[in-house]
Amino acid sequence: MLDISFGSFPALNDGAPQAVALICHGKGTSEDATFKALDEATAGALGRAVAFKGFKGDAGQTLVLTAPAASLSQVVLVGCAAKDGSAATAVAVENAGGTAARTLDGVENAVLALTSDVAGFAAEAASGARLVRYDFDLYRTKKSSDHASLKALTVATSDVPAAESRWVALDAVSRGVFLTRDLISEPANILYPETFTARIEALREIGLEVEVLDQAAMQELGFGALLGVAQGSANAPRTVIVRHNGGGEDAPLAFIGKGVTFDSGGISIKPAAGMDEMKTDMGGAATVIGLMSALARRKALVNVIGVVGLVENMVSGRAQRPGDIVTSYSGQTIEVLNTDAEGRLVLADVLAYTKDRFKPKLMVDLATLTGAIVVSLGTENAGLFSNDDALASGLFEAGKQVGEGLWRMPMGEAYNRQIDSDIADMKNIGGRPGSAILAAEFLKRFVGDATWAHLDIAGTTWKTTASPTAPKGATGFGVRLLNQFVQSHEVRA
Ligand code: BES
Ligand code: MN
Ligand code: ZN
Repeated sequence: MLDISFGSFPALNDGAPQAVALICHGKGTSEDATFKALDEATAGALGRAVAFKGFKGDAGQTLVLTAPAASLSQVVLVGCAAKDGSAATAVAVENAGGTAARTLDGVENAVLALTSDVAGFAAEAASGARLVRYDFDLYRTKKSSDHASLKALTVATSDVPAAESRWVALDAVSRGVFLTRDLISEPANILYPETFTARIEALREIGLEVEVLDQAAMQELGFGALLGVAQGSANAPRTVIVRHNGGGEDAPLAFIGKGVTFDSGGISIKPAAGMDEMKTDMGGAATVIGLMSALARRKALVNVIGVVGLVENMVSGRAQRPGDIVTSYSGQTIEVLNTDAEGRLVLADVLAYTKDRFKPKLMVDLATLTGAIVVSLGTENAGLFSNDDALASGLFEAGKQVGEGLWRMPMGEAYNRQIDSDIADMKNIGGRPGSAILAAEFLKRFVGDATWAHLDIAGTTWKTTASPTAPKGATGFGVRLLNQFVQSHEVRA
């Protein structure tokens, strides 16, 4: 994990050559004191390069000078200005920090500075750098050693105490994001319900309360929908409840995650191509756990409960069949017409149980629930479904503030009728049209009158391309968004 510290801008003429990245907001860059110091140290080469390349400081723009002076191994400029010339945002600077840390090459230590017009975002720049320097290398026995990689970054700021105090929370959140990415990246032979549970239990160390419901406990409670999914697997299911108590006697906020550690589709088996990606089908649960760890580490002043349903959806002689009818925890019966629509079956029991037992102020579930949401929104926005406008807009705004997009999808009675069954209370699939909405309507039948939202993160959890703050692979999408959302519910002392 990239080591972050804050300090003043270093002198450029003594000791070993330094690598420096400077985040610029465009207007005024040439007048900026740090820019001038770098220009001077490079005998004007930096200014000439800026003019030659037409570097304006626009978001996404970079300029790299390699060894422009004896005292400088690298100078990297990264822009963060919006096209319309508006003031810099935390998200833009965070992205620039990520781009800077990715661009700095072949050095173990570097300095990251900001021009004075964006200097207030030093901690955000550090966060972007931390987030992008993630590598899941547990299973590579030969690490590439011919190339130094960035280990420590000093973020130069004139107000070190302010940056350090802001960093406390961002550091906690970045560790939560890394936990989420680690869990998602693990293959399904390593991470299955039992081992996932062990990873969650390890979080007692940072102060979280952890309670485990094993198969017998769930049988006792009548989790027929979840257990039907689990019955084809040799790996027994778990439901795990995690609590962070930071808000006195208040009713908790509840976050519920789909934790299908592998989704083969079951008897309604998936095609071979791309099935490996279904190790990520526990992305909702991983996000909830990463969030809970972030809240515990930053000692959030609020009561929060995370509940994850962990199962493996497999094919075997004991697997659930298409046409089977199961009785859910809520008492409602479900005709399972497609065993690959399993996430909603898992969530049905976990949602209804969470509402009954904890009477939360609100419930938000996260799930890699449908391929249809990927078709609708691609990988840039997750689907947002809710029975409450205030909750929907609170989540939407939180996403905007951290650069994790949500897009609200419609719901309604006419959709809900499409999952009525001829012989049970409902069926687990409707037609193909609008099937991300039908999945949400299914969940809605298990939340009663609770204030509830559902985030379909099937498109945003795993990406085949890098972003400014994440390498390709598991993104950790949702941890920062929900952390921001929770922050707006904290009681301020
Ligand atoms: N886990 C999948 C959804 C998914 C698809 C997640 C692509 C990530 C990437 C889910 O369990 C599933 O199989 N959904 C089916 C539902 C269908 C059978 C109604 C789907 O979307 O095709
Ligand atoms: Mn499935
Ligand atoms: Zn699934």
